[in-house]
Amino acid sequence: MSEAKNYKEALQHPIFKTITKASQNLQLECYVIGGFVRDHILNRGNAKDIDIVAVGSGIELAKEVSRLLPNNPKVQVFKTYGTAMLKTETIEVEFVGARKESYTRDSRNPIVENGTLEDDQNRRDFTINALALSLSEDTLGNLLDPFNGLEDLKSKIIKTPLSPGITYSDDPLRMMRAIRFATQLGFKIETSSLKAIAEHRDRIKIITKERIVEELHKILLSDTPSIGFKLLETTDLLQHILPELIALKGIDEVEGQRHKDNFYHTLEVVDNIAENTDDLWLRWAALLHDIGKAPTKRFSKKVGWTFHGHEFVGSKMVFKLFKRLKMPLNEKMKFVQKMVLMSSRPIVIASDVTDSAVRRLVFDAGDFIEELMTLCEADITTKNPKRFKKYHNNFKIVRQKMVEVEERDKIRNFQPPVTGEEIMNTFNIQPSREIGIIKEAIKEAILEGEIPNEHEAAYDFMIKKGKELGLKNN
Ligand code: CTP
Repeated sequence: MSEAKNYKEALQHPIFKTITKASQNLQLECYVIGGFVRDHILNRGNAKDIDIVAVGSGIELAKEVSRLLPNNPKVQVFKTYGTAMLKTETIEVEFVGARKESYTRDSRNPIVENGTLEDDQNRRDFTINALALSLSEDTLGNLLDPFNGLEDLKSKIIKTPLSPGITYSDDPLRMMRAIRFATQLGFKIETSSLKAIAEHRDRIKIITKERIVEELHKILLSDTPSIGFKLLETTDLLQHILPELIALKGIDEVEGQRHKDNFYHTLEVVDNIAENTDDLWLRWAALLHDIGKAPTKRFSKKVGWTFHGHEFVGSKMVFKLFKRLKMPLNEKMKFVQKMVLMSSRPIVIASDVTDSAVRRLVFDAGDFIEELMTLCEADITTKNPKRFKKYHNNFKIVRQKMVEVEERDKIRNFQPPVTGEEIMNTFNIQPSREIGIIKEAIKEAILEGEIPNEHEAAYDFMIKKGKELGLKNN
């Protein structure tokens, strides 16, 4: 044990003084434990939440803390878990009584018994998350580290306090957490832990989809998400969570013709996009942009490997995938669908950048044109430096054209320059098919560059089109 180490400087937030006072009043020991301590030692910015473990009742301690605070914040009690939570303006504090836990096989819900601090540290997920700092006045800031978590922090190792089989089987969400921490912190998962994850992977099915997705979000939002997805793949967890990605794995060869491994390509795209955006949903789009390639893959002697319509098929798969994972089926999903559907558009026009193709691209992508371009730039994973340069240059040209076309024609938030009402008044007609035909023809003429996006030109075009349809203007 390294009890001599002291991290008093971590306890500057005023809440700690109050907690120490409350624990004195109740005559119990308490400690700050887990992520707060880990992140302080790693220098990972300011914590927004802290976990307190009390040797005694965590709920009573929370109530006493609230009583001592100026405006007595509400204490939220979770009786089943023996935990309590309170929020001040600057911090969220969770209180728990030290416990020995044992879990039932078919759920994560533990059967809880009171225990010592060490019992509690034993049942935590990783040695680096079992570090505790004393909040008692006489030992304030002393580190309690029975599993050498500090060493593991230094050598960047994810390791369980107990034998990994027990820790993961107790709470299979920890398999995802191990991979998530390895990704966020750039740590290695100890070999025996990695083996245990692969062994217990089926137990992931007792974890709610919401919790799995929460971990996936955190993996996706880290600097190098591919670390996590590769670990999910090697432990076989990915097959349970996102089989659509596993289906992209592998390279087929027929008559000497090969296609690229779309799984590893996808991971490169995700890492690339992580350098340019923190938008979670755009990162999801990068992860899913090629999922339609597995079901659409064909080989023909003439053209080799093709994935015709994979963008459309992929965008349809997004709905099923979001539904299965209980992810929101709202505008976020629609955004991901749109990105997947349009993911090849800029690449296709990049080889021959015409004004009308750019106008159509901007029209179809609407407000999300920037995000789409970011996705497509991330999609360039060629290892051939000449091609790499050429594609990026072509995208530069597309972007330049986008600015020119937008200045001239204002396509981005396209509003028809002639309204349905004006068409009805001009030709003295009631709501009818003809109005739709004329409006569509005006839009097409603008996108094709036959007329500018202006009222006068569109009005003249409307008269001409109406005449063609046999209508008479007033
Ligand atoms: N914990 C655990 N097993 C879990 C979840 C949490 O043992 N399945 C313990 C760990 O000691 C962890 C602490 O509870 O440090 C707090 O959990 P949580 O707030 O979820 O994670 P943090 O470690 O604080 O990290 P982050 O905030 O980055 O999620």
